[in-house]
Amino acid sequence: MSSLDAASFPDDRDPTLPGEPDPYPWFHRLRRDDPVHFSPFANAWMLTRYADAEKYLRDRRFSRVAYLDSMRAKYGAEQPILKFQSRELSFLDGDEHSWLKDVAAKAFTPARISAIRPHIRAAVDASLDKLLPAGRFDVIADYAYPLPADVISAMLGIPREDWTMLREWVDGILLSRGIVRTAAMIETGDKSARAFADYLSRLISARRQYPSGDLMSAFIAAEEKGRKLSDDQLVSMIETLFAAGHGTTRSLIGLGILALLKNPDQLALLSAEPARITRAVEEMLRYDPPTQAPSPQVALEDVEIGGKTVRKGEAVSVLFGATNRDPARFADPDKFDLTREDLEHLAFSLGPHYCLGASLARAEAQIAIGVLVERTASIELAENNPVFQQAGRFRGPVGLKIEVSARRS
Ligand code: HEM
Repeated sequence: MSSLDAASFPDDRDPTLPGEPDPYPWFHRLRRDDPVHFSPFANAWMLTRYADAEKYLRDRRFSRVAYLDSMRAKYGAEQPILKFQSRELSFLDGDEHSWLKDVAAKAFTPARISAIRPHIRAAVDASLDKLLPAGRFDVIADYAYPLPADVISAMLGIPREDWTMLREWVDGILLSRGIVRTAAMIETGDKSARAFADYLSRLISARRQYPSGDLMSAFIAAEEKGRKLSDDQLVSMIETLFAAGHGTTRSLIGLGILALLKNPDQLALLSAEPARITRAVEEMLRYDPPTQAPSPQVALEDVEIGGKTVRKGEAVSVLFGATNRDPARFADPDKFDLTREDLEHLAFSLGPHYCLGASLARAEAQIAIGVLVERTASIELAENNPVFQQAGRFRGPVGLKIEVSARRS
């Protein structure tokens, strides 16, 4: 039986329902019964209707800085993890946010993404060369987990032998930034943030002396409106790029493959029409978004949303799993349908905090999933009920064992 067997939406649980294999019936119920819902657990209003979320995400009367201030008041201002966060894009507003985003955007120009595609393809092929002959592997641990770290490290110029260590620190940092944070989570986050910052500071000073063609050198040299990044900002930027794209992209690959395996007709369609992969990845993002909620923001004045008044000082977030399956926005929303035309999902959010790495994440998922399907004659789930991540607002299977037979060329 599901742990969700109460009649109403559980007030004593993280509203993103981590660990739940299928939270969607609950999101439907919440959208129907209480679409602008106050979650005591998150101490925030959670929006579930697409139209409400679309308006809210573009509304400048909400602030990330004010939200981080409320976290400082709750957990203490001196924590390394909160100091780290205060320099991140996700926790800045207004002009300071736009300035930093303009600097960061230089990493994700269409030319840079096109240039990295052959590297992604080579990494995926090398991985499948090893995995396919065995006939059975874990999509998460063996295939999806290494890819985003390999790709962002190559872009940034982080030595290959170091990225396993960085990935572990990033996991520690991510664990500590759910809507709800326990003392143990914060301690792990603090330790990881310190280790990450020490490592990067050394690498940055080496790069200052000997610049190369990588992104780290580009960020060091970057100047926007007469201002350069400080060393602290550089560390936070690199940590952000590593952290933001790591678990999310891994989960997109895992959730996407899981959706295909649970819908064999759609897998057959993709196998017969490989060019459909671009749209297929958009449908995967809509159907089961890896980020189930954006960081909350605090209202700077009283704001009316969907018939409720959010008071000045109260926090608001969105349940993307609910908005992406809103029947008022998407026809037959629970159907995983690779022929769907309307694909304007919110998986990468909207407005000023729209995902910076969306084009990179798309490229990685299109290549990882597309090439797996192209190179296999059959793929099946080796275990029926994958376990989902138990904490935080990021959703994805912890492991996904599959059986495969390679396609003969
Ligand atoms: C499937 C993969 C991904 C998903 C689903 C995803 C989703 C999101 C979402 C929903 C946000 C908004 C969060 C918020 O408002 O609090 C966001 C922001 C962001 N993402 Fe992604 N992301 C993915 C991959 C990446 C990658 C690969 C990178 C970079 C390497 C990246 C970098 C960022 C950054 C820097 C922000 C903050 C933007 C800002 O606040 O202005 N993401 N992402």
